[in-house]
Formats: sequence, C-alpha cells, structure tokens
Amino acid sequence: MRKKVIYATLALIAAAPALADHPPVAHQGGRLAEAHGHRMELITTGSSFEVLLKDEHDRPMPAQGFGGKAIVLAPGGKAEVPLRPDGDKLTGPLPAGAELAAAVVSLRAGDGHVMNARFRALPPATAPSPALAAKGRAVYEAQCASCHGARLEGQDGWRTQPAASAAKLAPPLDATGHGWQHDDEQLANTIRKGAAPMPPFAGVLSEQDIQAVIAYFKSSWPAATLAQQPKPPAAESPVRPAASGGSGHHAGH
Ligand code: HEC
Repeated sequence: MRKKVIYATLALIAAAPALADHPPVAHQGGRLAEAHGHRMELITTGSSFEVLLKDEHDRPMPAQGFGGKAIVLAPGGKAEVPLRPDGDKLTGPLPAGAELAAAVVSLRAGDGHVMNARFRALPPATAPSPALAAKGRAVYEAQCASCHGARLEGQDGWRTQPAASAAKLAPPLDATGHGWQHDDEQLANTIRKGAAPMPPFAGVLSEQDIQAVIAYFKSSWPAATLAQQPKPPAAESPVRPAASGGSGHHAGH
C-alpha cells in the first residue's frame, strides 16, 4: 500500500499553529527534528542509526514504504548511509565516530514525497564514573530491580498503559524511558521522595548510594542520550525552604 498520509498531515499542520508551544519530546532518547510537519527521531546505538517517524501528534508512524539516506558530517568527513525499513523504524550502519555528529536525513515515501531533516551535532558528555556505577549496580539490584527490571527495562506494558492508570507501572531507566529528560538532581529527588507506588528512599539509601544508583542506570545510556540530558542549574540549593504562611500568623482567632 502506498503512503497517502503525508499530504493529509501537511493540511493538518497548517491548521495547528499551537504546535510551537509544545517542544517535541524524543521518547526514545534520540535527537528530534521537524520535517515537513512530521518528526524524525534519530537514535545512534553504537553501531547503527535508527530513524523513527512520528506524526504531528507525536504518534509513531510505520516505517514501511519509506526509504532514504543519512548524510553524516562525521569527524572523518562526510559519509552517506542508506536507511531501510526494519520493523517500526529505518536503520543503517553508523560510521565510526559519528555518534554525536551532525546529520541530514532524507526520506522518500512510497508516493515519492521527500522529507529532509537536519540534526545538530551533540556536545560530548561525561560518562558516569565506572567505579560509582559498579557500586550503584548493587544498590539497584537490591532496591530497584524488582520494579524497574533486571536490565533496566521497566515493567511490561509501561509504554501502553493508560495515562490515568491506577496501578502505575515502573518505567525503564535505560535510554528507552524518559529519565534522561530530567537532570541528576531531579532524578535524585524522585528517588528520595518516591512516586507512588514507588516508595521514598530518603533514609533507606545514603545520599552516596542515590548518586551511585543514578550513575549505574546512566551508564547504560548511549553518549548521545547523555549529551541530551539537561544539567542541574549550577548554584541552586536542591532543598527549597517551605512556602511561608505555615506558622507565626494565625488568622483563625
Ligand atoms: C515498588 C516499585 C518500585 C520500586 C521498588 C522502585 N521504583 Fe522507581 N518508579 C516506580 C514507578 C511506578 C515509577 C513511575 C511513577 C510515576 O510515573 O509517577 C517510578 C519512577 C522512577 C523514576 C522516574 C523516572 C522517569 O522517567 O522520570 C526514577 C528515576 C526511579 N523510579 C528510580 C528508582 C530507583 C533508583 C529505585 C531503587 C532505589 C526505584 N526507582 C525503585 C516503581 C518503583
């Protein structure tokens, strides 16, 4: 079957100026680019490029019927990589050293329509220290793996659970989840305070164990995901004083 979906989506985009209010979120931990009303997410996995297509509502689109190429501005020069459909994505081999490089992805739909997207190069990020990550692995296995999975994969069905689900499933903590969208301090706060049904770990784990377990799950993230994770605001205290009004002045007498 040929893809007619592109033209329909272009018409919708023209009628949806609110799109700009919602910066696109890369659910798989990759880089995002807009392409003629569609979104492409570029994921580099160490040996391959993966390109996921989304519609204007950020819903995944099937990759069947598309073909194309990525032009990578890698350290060694320009390289051209063919991209072919493989399940729900397009994939191609990643040239050595190109993981953080800038790329232009050009895809052609079955009906001949061409989409181009430009991905910026990512700054290199520092990987967590292997020693700290190794310490964090033991903490993870003892305290977290029962919910977040032995391999950080999260609970079955996490991605498809209804938003208002009463029993929340644990998300993956590898790069396929969305933990990387939070800075380290926000991650530490979630671990300290819990997020029902996740219990709070303040008082259970030392602050050093919390930092170690974060280092452990971050050590599974590819460099491109590490580079995309926000950095905590530099000089801000993690604990804010409680809002005023709790004591001192009572209005009820
Ligand atoms: C009882 C099950 C359970 C245990 C044990 C548990 N978690 Fe969770 N965790 C969850 C659930 C469920 C959520 C999602 C909560 C939500 O969406 O409100 C979550 C969310 C998180 C998040 C936020 C992820 C994101 O994408 O924003 C982090 C980080 C996290 N957990 C880390 C840990 C760590 C580290 C441990 C061990 C020290 C741990 N959790 C133990 C169930 C658990």
